[in-house]
Amino acid sequence: MKKLFRSDIDRLTPYKPVAPFDVLAEELGIPPEKIVKLDANENPYGASPKARAAIANFPFTHIYPDPAARHLRAALSDYLSVPAENIIVGSGADEVIDMLLRLFINPGDAIINTPPTFGIYPIAGRLNRAQVIDVPRHPDDFSLDIPAIEQAVADNPHAKILFLTSPNNPDGGITPLADLKRLLALPVIVVWDEAYAEFCGQNTAPLTLEYPNLVVLRTFSKWAGLAGLRVGYGIFPAPIAEMMWRVKSPYNVNVLAQEAALASLRDLDYLMDTVRKIVATRDDFQQQVKSIGWLKTYPSHSNFVLAKVGGGRTAEAVQETLKRQGILVRNYTPSGLHGHLRIAIGKPEDMARLLETLAGM
Ligand SMILES: Cc1ncc(COP(=O)(O)O)c(C=O)c1O
Repeated sequence: MKKLFRSDIDRLTPYKPVAPFDVLAEELGIPPEKIVKLDANENPYGASPKARAAIANFPFTHIYPDPAARHLRAALSDYLSVPAENIIVGSGADEVIDMLLRLFINPGDAIINTPPTFGIYPIAGRLNRAQVIDVPRHPDDFSLDIPAIEQAVADNPHAKILFLTSPNNPDGGITPLADLKRLLALPVIVVWDEAYAEFCGQNTAPLTLEYPNLVVLRTFSKWAGLAGLRVGYGIFPAPIAEMMWRVKSPYNVNVLAQEAALASLRDLDYLMDTVRKIVATRDDFQQQVKSIGWLKTYPSHSNFVLAKVGGGRTAEAVQETLKRQGILVRNYTPSGLHGHLRIAIGKPEDMARLLETLAGM
């Protein structure tokens, strides 16, 4: 049996997702409503009222979804100021990353990854038989090492895709547009993942009409509170968009996800208000966390904050103590960022409970 599996499958590392909410609640013996979930950058205010109503009232779940997501792409076209033809929707931005790899990678081609960053790129890359070339970010502020990226592309004729994330996950820092434009001169596809764009007011989508090798990724998971429904999308130069239809599975975004995403775009005032609340809560948290002398946070332009644990404590121990109190944060030590925790921004009362628990440690 074993020899029937793909020969490289044993060597692939699976993505380690966070445990489901209800499973953890049961494990900890804490009711789910008492858990403060700050481990996956989700929106603590949930989906918008119009999105909830659209899901509750949708009558056609027995009918296959529109493979072209026409209504949603038309609404996204208005939202982003790019033609609908340049937009492709996926089951989360994760699926769009996988589609891109399927479209561009021949076995042995390479992707350029800039760790610490979103962990899916190398995992999906290897699954699609790409070599992964790591060009680490500067360790002090997690900015990109631009000359090293240029060198890596020059040294690797098989390099096809460069993944850049802004704001970057896990630190929340942004890459200046001048750096993006400089890197767009490289002979590779530049994937600019702005999953957290709404938290910093960024929209680089129109640049895909100017640069033939730029792809921009977005998602409804974070700002729009639809992580559980899985809706993300990419904005592509027209020739790439045309080819993407060849690798997209026909019914990849289900009917409720399409309806909820469309309704979210019709509820922008409500959603942008929650985005502003999250940003204000983040800024308050950044101020207040200074009183915890053993925790140093980095500046963030997103809905999460990276924190370095010091003062003789370990990130594991802090994470475990918080978990026992029903507060979930993400520990980055297993991903190679030793002694760091990533804390998503919740409601003000969530952050108050976190600060109080940290102060008592
Ligand atoms: C930078 C980045 N890109 C993409 C994603 C995936 O988004 P989605 O939920 O749409 O698959 C995430 C989720 O954490 C992310 O942090």
